[in-house]
Amino acid sequence: MAAAGTAASAGGGGGRLTVRAVLRAWAARLQAAGCPEPEREALLIVSHLLGLEAGQVLARREESLRADQLEVGAQIVAQRCRRVPLAYLLGEAYFFGLRLRCDRRALVPRVETELLAEAALEWLRGRPRGVLAELGTGSGCLSIALAVHCPTARLVATDLSAAALALAAENARLHGVEERIVFLCGDLLAPLVSEGLASHVQALVANLPYLAEAEYAAAAPELRYEPRAALVAGPTGLEAYQRLAGQLALLPKLEFLAVEMGASQGSAVRALFARALPGWELEVRRDYAGWDRLLIARLPAGRPAAGKKVPRAPLQLDRSKPHR
Ligand SMILES: C[S@@+](CC[C@H](N)C(=O)[O-])C[C@H]1O[C@@H](n2cnc3c(N)ncnc32)[C@H](O)[C@@H]1O
Repeated sequence: MAAAGTAASAGGGGGRLTVRAVLRAWAARLQAAGCPEPEREALLIVSHLLGLEAGQVLARREESLRADQLEVGAQIVAQRCRRVPLAYLLGEAYFFGLRLRCDRRALVPRVETELLAEAALEWLRGRPRGVLAELGTGSGCLSIALAVHCPTARLVATDLSAAALALAAENARLHGVEERIVFLCGDLLAPLVSEGLASHVQALVANLPYLAEAEYAAAAPELRYEPRAALVAGPTGLEAYQRLAGQLALLPKLEFLAVEMGASQGSAVRALFARALPGWELEVRRDYAGWDRLLIARLPAGRPAAGKKVPRAPLQLDRSKPHR
């Protein structure tokens, strides 16, 4: 039995396995499997089993775990050693301080993407009733964080994957913002255009796939468990943003754009959007590790947006429209 094996390797002595011994044993197994943060992950697994915060677990290091908890924990550790992302095994992830349901329908939210949320909130502070669209919402993390932090914002979130959108809708319900985000399924701007919403969008944010195929082939094993379509853009990694840049003229009121990018894509992504948005102010923002992470584009004050006319419907950003 897996838990018994773990008990032996934890050196439990007489069957009493303390939190301290289990943390040590599981961290050692995770480290041997090449998991990058073994101590932190062992602590998260024990926190999950006990239903406690990490700090509370550390305060109870001399207490024992029950046999059923050890059994479940050992199964999680075994799968994590096969490099299944921990967030999928625990069924949850945190983004911008919000607990979200997390499973294989969508990418695990990344901490770098919180920079995109901050950039969008900067814009929303100046336009608290602004209309903002997110492309490629995945788990819904970004739009849900914006809805929670800016209660007056009007939000549309799209994705090509209906499965991801179903998870995003569940997460929106979890945080009580399901009435405030319209979820639409489709490719890039197509669902906004077909729903007559494109002509209302003032801000666009997106964390679209940006890995090149060769980068994906060499990436950490965890990425194999996430939807490939959420990660890989094509041979160069720039394909999704190239296509998006070519469609921006469909958004006549657009005045703000922020997209997440790969660690060394700053100048390539800047060049793409500089061509699509002539006269706009462009900024490449780095993450806390110093890598290129965001391209932010703003229409200078007083300058008319350069979009072309598109079919316009009355603005109806509420759940009276069906989730498709
Ligand atoms: C990198 S994930 C980001 C998910 C989420 N926004 C986050 O930051 O965790 C990219 C998302 O874009 C979606 N996607 C990929 N290509 C798309 C396209 N052409 N149009 C709309 N969504 C797309 C994927 O299904 C995936 O959910």
